[in-house]
Amino acid sequence: MRVIEWREGSLRFLDQTRLPLEEIFVTTDDEYVVADAIKRLAIRGAPLIGIGAAYGFVLALNKVTDASKVPAAIERASILLSSTRPTAVNLFRALERMKAEAAAFMSAPLLEFKLHLLEEALAIHREDEAMCRAIGEHGAALLPNAAVVVTHCNTGRLATGGEGTALAVIAKAWELRTLKHVYMDETRPLMQGARLTAWELKQLGIPSTLMTDSTAAFLMQRGLVNAVVVGADRITLNGDVANKVGTYGLAVLAKHHGIPMIVAAPTSTLDFTLVNGSEIPIEQRNGKEVTHIGETRIAPEGVEVYSPAFDITPGELISAIVTEQGVMQYPFRDPIKRLRPGRSRAL
Ligand code: MRU
Repeated sequence: MRVIEWREGSLRFLDQTRLPLEEIFVTTDDEYVVADAIKRLAIRGAPLIGIGAAYGFVLALNKVTDASKVPAAIERASILLSSTRPTAVNLFRALERMKAEAAAFMSAPLLEFKLHLLEEALAIHREDEAMCRAIGEHGAALLPNAAVVVTHCNTGRLATGGEGTALAVIAKAWELRTLKHVYMDETRPLMQGARLTAWELKQLGIPSTLMTDSTAAFLMQRGLVNAVVVGADRITLNGDVANKVGTYGLAVLAKHHGIPMIVAAPTSTLDFTLVNGSEIPIEQRNGKEVTHIGETRIAPEGVEVYSPAFDITPGELISAIVTEQGVMQYPFRDPIKRLRPGRSRAL
């Protein structure tokens, strides 16, 4: 199943808000539909948000019939797509690439200009697929034998252009027969673990158990797991990691219990402009996602809610960051500086 795909001038994507109950695909040639899909998490997961935004940019520019209107259309598309979600840096990276491609071919005939934009979006998509494969291979080698892993949120095919980040590591270890079992957090409030990771692991035939977000501590205390593997939405120069809220708690627990805390992400998730995690903008979600389950209220009317979508895990709590270029160990500042951005063209 292709979660997102360019098909004859349109974008086709799986609406992840409907999973696992329904597999509904949306086909659109409207960038506003794409922006809305990113906002409401129909398209989600840091790398997939970047890919979706790149295709959204293509759709916006495809509507232009008069070359003199191109600069204004670029401006409009950038504002629309970049204002969807603030934390995953892949979104901004992808848009920067699309704008650079647009600038490079601005004086080409309109049809050729549009073809270049499409080629760039397809390249972002293809490169992400390759990065996932490499992350899986590098990361699987880090896991202990008979690995029993805790993972958080969703980091698989639904979140990327390929097999995933943390889930690619897990899938590769399963293929190598070094993985025994996966425990996944349900990931309140939007349940990406329960709805999406449980669905993906079932499809992959990987033995897995769903638990509430607060269960990991007890699992570790009982000695039932030997690694934590998660993805990332933005990684700063010092190795601080923004990922789905709850990741920081897992990292503290992993440290306390002497379990490796592994973060898997493509280099397109690295933000070389930020020195540390305190500079990462954190998305705040609508309180209704906490006070309600579906349309059913579970908290008293008028209660105040604090709902950051992501938290920041300090680099010193992370044992290894795995990218498509290899494995980095703490302290991360020097290895991050040594990454070769050119190789993925995503930096
Ligand atoms: O709010 P979401 O579902 O977009 O959050 C996704 C995550 O936090 C993932 O862990 C992260 O994007 C890494 S995905 C490969």
